[in-house]
Amino acid sequence: MSQSANAPQSVSQELAPPPLNSPRTLKGVLISEESLRDRITQLAQMLNQDYGDKPVVIVGILNGTILFFADLIRQLTGPIEIDFMGVTSYRNGTSPGNAAITRSLKTDLKDRHVLLVDDILDVGQTLTTIVEEILLQEPKDLRTCVLLEKTARRRYPIAADYIGFSIPDYFVVGYGLDYAERYRNLPYVAVLDDSHLG
Ligand code: IMP
Ligand code: MG
Repeated sequence: MSQSANAPQSVSQELAPPPLNSPRTLKGVLISEESLRDRITQLAQMLNQDYGDKPVVIVGILNGTILFFADLIRQLTGPIEIDFMGVTSYRNGTSPGNAAITRSLKTDLKDRHVLLVDDILDVGQTLTTIVEEILLQEPKDLRTCVLLEKTARRRYPIAADYIGFSIPDYFVVGYGLDYAERYRNLPYVAVLDDSHLG
């Protein structure tokens, strides 16, 4: 094989995306498994105290909330029901886009205590869209709980009632959060490498 035929081959190897979960694409761990566990236990204790014996419908936002939701609700002691809403934020890589509801709730929320659980509150469009949708059903009350919040880019006047961690304006992945649908399975929260920011 000639030299010129070999050259493009080595370049394309260089440009090939790294394997899934390769440490090369992550800058490092921002929140360890242990810190997540400890803080989620604290959040659950606050919720148990605040809701007491009241029946609550816990609404999880798919897909980012899956791990947080599962770890949180197993520590709740009151009479809870669960349901899920699907929301796509039409993010282009790491840049915010428009939020649209892709899966509706099955539960009637009228006159119910509702706790909305999401993965991360960033510019606030997603949570605002969901809150507006849920309020149409006239719940008895609605509170919001997010694992993470980034205040740096907030554009909507919304704050969560329960917050796991306030983080700097990094794009984070893992523990349910994705970049282009990858990394949701990591058991910790990591910062995506700058070279992959869109
Ligand atoms: P926003 O508050 O409208 O910007 O939207 C929040 C949604 O954007 C979250 O539910 C995530 O799906 C996504 N998002 C925002 N920041 C991050 C991040 O750092 N990593 C992964 N997803 C993010
Ligand atoms: Mg999400």
